[in-house]
Amino acid sequence: MKYNFDKVINRKGTSSWKWDTTELIFGSDDVLPMWVADMDFLVAKPIIDALKKRIDHGVFGYTMPWNSLTSAVVDRVQQKYNWKIKPEWIVFTPGVIPAIYSAIKAFTHPGDDVILQGPVYYPFWNAIRDNGCNISNNQLKLINNHYEMDFEDLKKKFAPHPEMIPSPPRTRLMILCNPHNPVGRVWSKKELKKAGEIALKHDAIVISDEIHCELLLTNSTHTPFATISKEFEQHSITCMAPSKTFNLAGLEASSIIIPNEDLRNKFNIAKEGITPDTNVLGLVALEAAYRYGNEWLSQLLDYLRKNLEFLMKYFEEKIPQVKVIKPEGTYLAWLDFRKLGMDNEKLSAFLRRKAKVGLDDGYLFGSSGSGFERINIACPRSILEEGLKRIEKAVNSL
Ligand SMILES: Cc1ncc(COP(=O)(O)O)c(C=O)c1O
Repeated sequence: MKYNFDKVINRKGTSSWKWDTTELIFGSDDVLPMWVADMDFLVAKPIIDALKKRIDHGVFGYTMPWNSLTSAVVDRVQQKYNWKIKPEWIVFTPGVIPAIYSAIKAFTHPGDDVILQGPVYYPFWNAIRDNGCNISNNQLKLINNHYEMDFEDLKKKFAPHPEMIPSPPRTRLMILCNPHNPVGRVWSKKELKKAGEIALKHDAIVISDEIHCELLLTNSTHTPFATISKEFEQHSITCMAPSKTFNLAGLEASSIIIPNEDLRNKFNIAKEGITPDTNVLGLVALEAAYRYGNEWLSQLLDYLRKNLEFLMKYFEEKIPQVKVIKPEGTYLAWLDFRKLGMDNEKLSAFLRRKAKVGLDDGYLFGSSGSGFERINIACPRSILEEGLKRIEKAVNSL
């Protein structure tokens, strides 16, 4: 079946975070929203069919995960990454962020340091703070328009602070984002191995948020952190979900893969009473997406790659003052506006009020994001073009 990703679907009036909050968030209803990470595309038909079938049953009582659902996840990671997981390793949660909150609660004491790699998805920062821990920012390095991990700094972040009396904070947890939101890196096996070896030397646990793992825009390969070795597997919490890949964020279903039984038990205890079970429709959609969504996904990826090409060319030819950090994965592009010489407040106001586009301000992802903006390219090309035209016009008016 051929899907039409050019089709503009009116999402206004559907209580969409992206489309129904422009006034509230950006101060005006005529701002074109290109921020929150969901897509403006119709979902794959087999997913809609599976949901309709379940809805037709008409009873929606408490539901537990079922065998063919679990095996859809087992089969998916085996097919995609040759990773052989056991069904009992999977914990379904309504989202990756609740899972990260639960994991931090399970594996830290208040006052511990938790490592993240800024600029990075802003809920990570809150999840650490809200659990009473300290943020230890192993900031990424931007070298020739390309982000890299800073391994020397990572070693220091894990090293104890001997000068601290009576006792230094413990650093036993690191949150990886792979592919990385917002900078779009798909970390190579070599990079993950190097980072993981440093973490494991200090007996740390690594939460690997791989929610964007099927959204590869270049010829890069996704390596689940846990597949690097049995030791990595035993020290990892892998967060996967069909929500980004198949545009199911509002259905809220994720699979958290925890091979180590002790960690899994601790995680389950930490989430009890706080993170609810996953809703039945989310799980139905998850199974259908993994089993029958490939045809749609391959057409989506073609479309996204063309959108990315379009955006790269547009900035290069028409808005050269703004540099694009080309993403290897995700449908988010990280734009470098620093040449315009505006501080955070000015840049934000310029884009909202002058350009009339709603982007995610870079500083929200950590201070090293200052001067950057994140744009979501998962929309029909006509909308993308409209957004770029608005930015071009505003930049040219300076
Ligand atoms: C890296 C990353 N993790 C998690 C999420 C959100 O996950 P969920 O909606 O499953 O809580 C997002 C959404 O944009 C994301 O980019």
